[in-house]
Amino acid sequence: MKIVETFAEARFARRGLVGFVPTLGFVHEGHLSLIKRAAAENETVLVSLFVNPLQFGPGEDFDTYPRQLERDADLIAGAGADVLFAPALAEMYPEPALTEVSVPTLAEHLDGIERPEHFRGVATVVTKFLAGLQPDRAYFGRKDGQQLSIISRLVFDLSIPVRIIGCPTVREPDGLALSSRNVYLSPDQRQQALALSKGLMAAADLVDAGERDSRALIECVRVAGTNVDFSYVRLVDRRTVQPVGRLSQNAFLAVAARVGPARLIDNIHVDFDTGSPEVDRGIRLTEPSVLYQDR
Ligand code: PAJ
Repeated sequence: MKIVETFAEARFARRGLVGFVPTLGFVHEGHLSLIKRAAAENETVLVSLFVNPLQFGPGEDFDTYPRQLERDADLIAGAGADVLFAPALAEMYPEPALTEVSVPTLAEHLDGIERPEHFRGVATVVTKFLAGLQPDRAYFGRKDGQQLSIISRLVFDLSIPVRIIGCPTVREPDGLALSSRNVYLSPDQRQQALALSKGLMAAADLVDAGERDSRALIECVRVAGTNVDFSYVRLVDRRTVQPVGRLSQNAFLAVAARVGPARLIDNIHVDFDTGSPEVDRGIRLTEPSVLYQDR
């Protein structure tokens, strides 16, 4: 695997169909699953590793976000990437950008309420990557459901010639959705954090049993998490990110909660593409994540 620091070098390394996976680094099996999928579907796999200051709010963890390039490069290469694009701040923002990309109608709900600038930073940096690297396909996790909806929409609105592919959430053996921020949790907090996925899995069982009422699904998550400080529990349409009352279209049931020092998010997607609803509960690892190795 080649490690490059400029857009020009990353573009030059492309051969055939190009699959792209953007990351903030400190990678885990969630990121690696996107890279493996991209490797199975494309000739060149391009991964970016960049802790994007635009998407961190004041008081958030930009300065302390774990940065471990060597560790990450080994894991990313092992998953089948051909090129790792790890730009310095000066390559990404040689001057403060005067151009911003935002999708306000989709960004103002859910996470956008507590993190008002976040999705503008995400949309701007992802647009920059897509413009500067010109991949054929780009892979994103369903774990960040609102992010995936926003990126799908901006690509549509701006006619960017790339296919956005949403991939299942990878979970610890006990159900906790993998997140680089899980390493901030103490053993007690880690236990408490399980309420998010437990509630979502219970709601998934309800959907499978025929429940379509959003209030019942939301209540089910809240009951599982009585000891958790939820920021929101919402059933939203996947295209508009607007709350839905009854489940009858592609949607996701999303939760966010503060657990100790970490703000955690999780969701389950419900797909109506085949007519009858199918719940995507994600994929469970059989062993604890690589996040806990070497620590
Ligand atoms: P980051 O949090 O590093 O995530 C990179 C990609 O991995 C995203 O598409 C995210 O949805 C996916 N991902 C994270 N956890 C996952 C899990 N448990 N299972 C499956 N996929 C998972 O999301 C970002 O970075 C940034 O906002 C970025 C898109 C790179 C822009 O800076």
